Amino acid sequence: MRIIGTGVAIPELTVTNDMIAEFLDTNDEWISSRTGIKERKLISSESLHELGAKAANKALEAAGMTAADIDLIICSNVANKYVTPSLACVIQGEIKASCPCFDINNACAGFITCLDVADGYISSGKYKNILLICAEEPSRFVDWKSRNACILFGDAAGAVVLTEGRGLKKIKLSTTSLPDVLYYKRKLEPTPYAQDNDEKYQPLQMNGREVFKMAVTSSVSDIREAMDDCGLKPTDIDLFILHQANLRIIDSIRQHLDLPEEKFPHNVERYGNTSSASIPLLLDEQLKAGKIKNGDLLVMSAFGAGFSSAACILEWNA
Ligand code: ACO
Repeated sequence: MRIIGTGVAIPELTVTNDMIAEFLDTNDEWISSRTGIKERKLISSESLHELGAKAANKALEAAGMTAADIDLIICSNVANKYVTPSLACVIQGEIKASCPCFDINNACAGFITCLDVADGYISSGKYKNILLICAEEPSRFVDWKSRNACILFGDAAGAVVLTEGRGLKKIKLSTTSLPDVLYYKRKLEPTPYAQDNDEKYQPLQMNGREVFKMAVTSSVSDIREAMDDCGLKPTDIDLFILHQANLRIIDSIRQHLDLPEEKFPHNVERYGNTSSASIPLLLDEQLKAGKIKNGDLLVMSAFGAGFSSAACILEWNA
C-alpha cells in the first residue's frame, strides 16, 4: 500500500508553558529543557470527532477522493467521551461515508499499528481505499492538578488515505506487557456480583523515567530490526518521522543511530505529545514544506502504553 493523501486538524487554543505555570508549580525553563515543549494546542470549544472529520476531509481532498470512494475507516484513539460506539462510527456520519469502520487503541503506537492492519486488508484485496484517522485528546485524561504529565500532552487529529501500491517496505510491531508503567483506567459500574471497592477513578498514571528509557531502547531496536530486514543502513534513510513525545527522546534515538539532526524533523515544541496523531501531523507538515520527494525512504517509529512500540519503512509514493 501507499499513502496518497494527508490532512490534519488542530484545536484553536494555544496553551504555553507560562500559562500552565500560572496554576501549577512549574516553569517554562523546566518544561522546555526536559521535554523541548514550548506550547500545545488543547481542545476547548471543539469536539474530537469534529477535528477527526476535518482531518479526514482534508486527507480525502489531498487524495482527490470523496467519502464515497472509501472502503473502510480505521480510527486510532486512546479515549474519548464515547466508550461505544467507536469514534470511527461517529466520524463516518460526520463525513457522510457509508463504509464499515472501527477503532484501534494501541496508544501512541496506534498510527503504525493501523497502517499494518490496513496493509493486511489492501494486500488481501478485500479493501482498496482505506481512510485512517488518528484523533486524540489526551488533555482530557491527564491530571491538571499535578505537574507530572499534563505538561507533556496536546490534542490533535491527523488522517491519511491509503491505497494499493508498493510503498510499504516493512512494519514491525512489538509489545511487552507492562501495564503499570503507563495507564489510564475507566471506572466500571458495580453489579450485585462484582465491585471494585478499592478502585477510585484516576487520571493517566505514568512512570516518566521508565517510559523514557523504554522509549529509546524499543525505538532503536525496532528501527534497527526493520532496516536490517530490508537490507538498509541508517544512512540510506532520508527522513525519520518519529513519535513526538519529548525532544530528548528523539535526540537520544538519533544519537544511537549516529545520524545528523536534519534527518529528524520535529514539532513537539509546538504541539506536545498528541499520542497516535503525532506521526500523521509531522508527516503532513513535512510534505507541505516540500521536505519529502517521491522515492524518499522514510522511517516512522512510535512507542506508548502497553508497553507497545512500532516501526515502519516506507518508500514515498512507490
Ligand atoms: N515542572 C517542574 N518540575 C517538575 C515537573 C514539572 N512539570 N515535573 C517533575 N518535576 C520535578 C520532579 O518533582 C523532580 O523533582 P525532585 O528532584 O525534587 O524530586 C524533578 O523535577 C525531576 O523529575 P524527573 O521525573 O526525574 O524528571 P525527568 O528528567 O525524568 O523528566 C519527564 C520527566 C519529562 C516526564 C521525562 O521522564 C519524560 O519525558 N518521560 C517520558 C514520558 C512520555 O513520553 N510519556 C508519554 C509516552 S507515550 C503514551 O503512550 C501516552
